[in-house]
Amino acid sequence: MPQPAPPEDPAIDLLIRGGTIATEHGLYPGAVAIAGGRIVAIGEAASLQTARETLDATGLHILPGAIDPHVHFREPGYTHKEDWETGSAAAAMGGVTTVFEMPNTDPPTATPEALAEKLNAAAKSYVDFGIYGLLAEDNLQHLESLIAGGVAAFKCFMGNTFGNLPSPSTGAMLEAFEIIAPHGLRISLHAETASIMARRQARLAASGRHDPLAHLASRPAIVAMEAVSRAALLAEWTGARVHVLHISSGDELRPLREAKQRGVDITGETCPHYLLFNEQAYHTFGSLIRVNPPVREQSHQDALWAGLADRTIDMIATDHAPHATEEKLQDDIWCADCGFTGVETQMPLMLTQVAAGRMTLNHYVKMTATAPARAFGLYPHKGVLQPGSDADIVVIDLQREDKVRSDQLQSLGSATPFDQTPTKGLPVHTLVRGVFVMKSRELIEETSGHGRPVGRIQHMPTPAPRNLETTTAAITSCGKS
Ligand code: NCD
Ligand code: ZN
Repeated sequence: MPQPAPPEDPAIDLLIRGGTIATEHGLYPGAVAIAGGRIVAIGEAASLQTARETLDATGLHILPGAIDPHVHFREPGYTHKEDWETGSAAAAMGGVTTVFEMPNTDPPTATPEALAEKLNAAAKSYVDFGIYGLLAEDNLQHLESLIAGGVAAFKCFMGNTFGNLPSPSTGAMLEAFEIIAPHGLRISLHAETASIMARRQARLAASGRHDPLAHLASRPAIVAMEAVSRAALLAEWTGARVHVLHISSGDELRPLREAKQRGVDITGETCPHYLLFNEQAYHTFGSLIRVNPPVREQSHQDALWAGLADRTIDMIATDHAPHATEEKLQDDIWCADCGFTGVETQMPLMLTQVAAGRMTLNHYVKMTATAPARAFGLYPHKGVLQPGSDADIVVIDLQREDKVRSDQLQSLGSATPFDQTPTKGLPVHTLVRGVFVMKSRELIEETSGHGRPVGRIQHMPTPAPRNLETTTAAITSCGKS
C-alpha cells in the first residue's frame, strides 16, 4: 500500500519569493508557488506557502518566459551552424522558454517524414517547442498530414532566403490558405516578393556591385510592402490566420494596419536588429550584417519604434539564424549567408532599451510572451503567470550590466554584429514547466531533453474560413456527387 506523504513534506515543489512579478499590465510584489510543473499560487497568498525548495528573488523581477516564434535551429541538415541542443541551450540562457522552429532545414519540413525527423532531433531540446511545417508550391498534398502530425504553424517563404527554397506562386499560396484556414493554424510569412528581388540582384551583380550596401539596394521596402499586402488579401479572402515575420520597414506597417482594421486575423513581429541598427551598420560590420529582410535606413527604424508604441507591431521575435563565421564574412556580399544568432541576445538587448526608457517592462512582457502565446494558441497555458499556467518563468536582474560576447554564446554559429554591445538587464534563472534549465547564469546540462512539443496545450480559436464555395476543392468536386 502506498504510504501517505509525511505531514512535513510540503505539496509545493518550488517557491520563488521576494521578487516583483511583471505582467503585461502591471508590477506587483509577490511569490510564485510551483507544483507539478505548474503555477499553483501567485502573489501575496503564495508567500505564505512552504515548499521543498525556495528561490530568493529579492531585488529581481519574475516574468513569463519569452516565447520566440522565429528560430532556425538548423537540424537536420546544417548542424555545423547549430543543432537542437545548442540552439535550445541558447534559448535557455536567453530567458526563452518556448521556441517555434523554422522548416528551412535539410530536408525541409515539407512532408510527414521530414516532420518525424525534425521531431526526433528536437527531442534534445531544453525548452518547449512548436515545429513549423513548410508551405510550398509542391507540397499542398502534405499540408493536412503535417497538421495531423502536429505542426504548430506553417511557414511560407514568399521570398528567397537561406536554404533557397523556391517561393510558392500566388496561386499555390491561395490554395494552401484554403486548405489551412478550416484548421485555424497560423501561417507565418517571410514577406518579401521573390521576383522583385531576383531581378534587382541580377542587375546589381551584372553592374559590378558586390559591396554590402548592394544587399539593401536589392531589397527596397516595396519588396516587403507588396508581399504583406498580397498575403493579407489572400488571408482576408480565405479566412486564414497569418503572421508577418521580421518586419523591417515602415512601409509594411500600412498594409498590416489596414488589414487589422478590415478584421483580418494578422499579427506582426519585428526583431532587435531592425530596432537597433541602421544603414551605418553596412559600413561598420560589412557582410556580417547581411540578413533578410535587410537592416534599413534610420527612418525605418524610427517607424518601427512608432509601430511598437501604437501596437501595430504585436511582438518581438529574434529570427535566430546562426551561420559559421566564415559563411558570414565574405568579400562578395552575394556570397555571405544571411542572418545571425539571436535567441540568447534578445532579452539583454531589449531590457537595455527598457532601462533606457524606450519601452515599459510591461509592454516588453506583452511583446515577448503574452502576445505570441495568444497568436499561436498557447494562452493561458503559456505567456502569462497565473494559477494553472505552465511554470515557464524567467527571473531577471534589471540592474545587472553585462556585454554581449560572441565567444560566450551557446550557438555554434555565434558570429553577431552585437558582439561587445554593452547591456543592462539580464536573465539570471530560466524555468521550463517548473524545472531550472538555467540557474544563476549556468546552463543546467542535465535538462537537455526536458523540452516538449506545444501540441499538448495548443488551442487555436475557432477557425473562420471564408469563400468556401470558391475553393479549389469545392470547384473540382462539382459534378462528382
Ligand atoms: C534566415 C536563415 O538563415 O535561415 N536568414 C535570414 O536572413 N533571416 C532565413 C529567414 O528567416 O529569412
Ligand atoms: Zn525569413
